[in-house]
Amino acid sequence: MEQLNTHPIKKSDLGFHGNLFGGKLLSWIDASAAGYAMQLCDTPRMVTVSIDQCNFERPAKESQLLKIYGKPHKVGNSSMTLYMEARAHNVYTGKQDLILKTNITFVQTAYRDWETDRKSTRLNSSHRL
Ligand SMILES: CC(C)(COP(=O)(O)OP(=O)(O)OC[C@H]1O[C@@H](n2cnc3c(N)ncnc32)[C@H](O)[C@@H]1OP(=O)(O)O)[C@@H](O)C(=O)NCCC(=O)NCCS
Repeated sequence: MEQLNTHPIKKSDLGFHGNLFGGKLLSWIDASAAGYAMQLCDTPRMVTVSIDQCNFERPAKESQLLKIYGKPHKVGNSSMTLYMEARAHNVYTGKQDLILKTNITFVQTAYRDWETDRKSTRLNSSHRL
């Protein structure tokens, strides 16, 4: 699994209960996964089509590092599904807790013609997996 991003958790990232706000975490994971999908597929024109069930397994706290990891899970004709993990990293001990894991699917829209509803072209990604 590749490490994609590290976010130091700040006060402004917390929700009412002092834990990392869930919507913020989802936004970070979506952005990391989108960048990774673009890199693997050699195109910036990847859109999120689906995020699987998200269970927030543990809270992440201020001053921890929120690390995001990903790996390709499935490649289709015009879609790629990535398996993503977010882990809270304790800088004093190096211990990591799993906060959330999910699959995110992206679709290439580069050559889609909305007038004729022509389907997207085949992804240029299989050589990367
Ligand atoms: C992504 C989008 C172009 C797909 O359109 P569509 O007509 O449903 O696409 P198709 O039926 O032609 O399917 C295209 C691919 O997407 C996959 N797909 C479509 N809906 C999916 C879903 N809910 N979950 C997983 N994969 C899905 C299909 O399996 C297919 O994969 P393949 O080519 O590898 O076999 C369209 O849904 C869209 O524009 N959505 C908005 C995307 C967006 O704005 N995202 C930003 C976050 S809001």
